[in-house]
Amino acid sequence: MSHVAAGQEEVEEMLDAREQRFRLLIDSVKEYAIFMLDADGRVASWNGGARRLKGYEAGEIIGRHFSIFYPEEDVAAGKPARELSLARSEGHLEDEGLRVRKDGSLFWANVVITAMRTDGGELIGFAKVTRDLTERRRSEDERLRLARMQEALRLRDEFISIASHELRTPLTALELGMQRLTGDQSLPERVVKQLERTRRITARLAHLVATLLDVSRLTTGKMPIEVERFDLRAALREVVDRSADEAGRASTPIEVRAAAPIEGRWDRLRVEQVLTNLLSNAIKYGGSRPVAIEAETLGQEALIRVIDRGDGIATEDLERIFGRFERAVSMRHFGGLGLGLYISRQIAEAHGGTLGVESEPGRGATFTLRLPLSPARAAAADDQSEGHP
Ligand SMILES: Nc1ncnc2c1ncn2[C@@H]1O[C@H](COP(=O)(O)OP(=O)(O)OP(=O)(O)O)[C@@H](O)[C@H]1O
Ligand SMILES: [Mg+2]
Repeated sequence: MSHVAAGQEEVEEMLDAREQRFRLLIDSVKEYAIFMLDADGRVASWNGGARRLKGYEAGEIIGRHFSIFYPEEDVAAGKPARELSLARSEGHLEDEGLRVRKDGSLFWANVVITAMRTDGGELIGFAKVTRDLTERRRSEDERLRLARMQEALRLRDEFISIASHELRTPLTALELGMQRLTGDQSLPERVVKQLERTRRITARLAHLVATLLDVSRLTTGKMPIEVERFDLRAALREVVDRSADEAGRASTPIEVRAAAPIEGRWDRLRVEQVLTNLLSNAIKYGGSRPVAIEAETLGQEALIRVIDRGDGIATEDLERIFGRFERAVSMRHFGGLGLGLYISRQIAEAHGGTLGVESEPGRGATFTLRLPLSPARAAAADDQSEGHP
């Protein structure tokens, strides 16, 4: 008999050692809470992962009912009991939802409950494995939010593109009609005056539509430029002349300081567009105080400064205002699309130049446009200096 007893002891020791190793394994798992519930749903064992995830020490939680892990609403709705009874009948249950830590904070959990039965089929309890999915859920939410935002932006850009093209067609017809009428010598003076006002409004409308067309083109690529040789100072004077009405209405004196012609090769229409935008901003935001425009050649660059004495721009807005649809003032006080500076900078950069701003809030703003005298040559020079240092 004695050798049989000794054999049994050995087997038990072996089983003990195996169980201990198994416990150590379970306890060392940190990413999962792995524990047992008894048949009534009371916590019967606890591991390191459970302590880390839920915040309870084994001593505080063993013997407590597992409904403590569920938010109050779930407990009131009978969810813990329902999950156990499902695990009991199906053998297994998986759920994702909010769970509560010891400190009351919530986390997003994946939960698997498995019924454990003896060979005879008697229920001895449940194994419960809980995983914290908060991080994963957060990054999924973030991805989703980003995708929605990108889609909204894409729809906006598509809308702008369609709308601006649709507006262009009737506008062209309107401009042609106005042109024909303006040429009519037989019209009474009253009508001619009214016509002039209408022409100005049409021009403003055409400008808005052109801006939208530009911005929609820019979403798909760079601003194309066609360079020709001209005098930038002469172009600047023309722009100032054309803005005389606008400046007059705002009672803004404009002074051009340019000692010499500035010969170079640029896209004339596009450069005039930049100057018009800068000048119109200086008038719009300049508070009727004098605006100065300085223009000179400096080395291989043309340098133009548009200086106003308005309210200026807050430091945190200095970069932002060059973005699409970005404005630093409220829509209600100043009209505009917030596109002038965005398009102007794109034009400057398409020439290999820059457009920047300096401002002291309350003291006005100075916008500086730098254009290489010849964009093509400047680019070639860049290539050379890279190729042969
Ligand atoms: N000279 C300036 N002084 C103060 N703020 C300015 C000046 N120029 C531009 N800003 C600010 O920068 C913003 C962006 O200017 P931008 O020219 O791009 O748009 P906008 O003038 O509002 O509209 P638009 O598309 O008709 O030009 C303006 O809304 C304004 O807040
Ligand atoms: Mg503007």
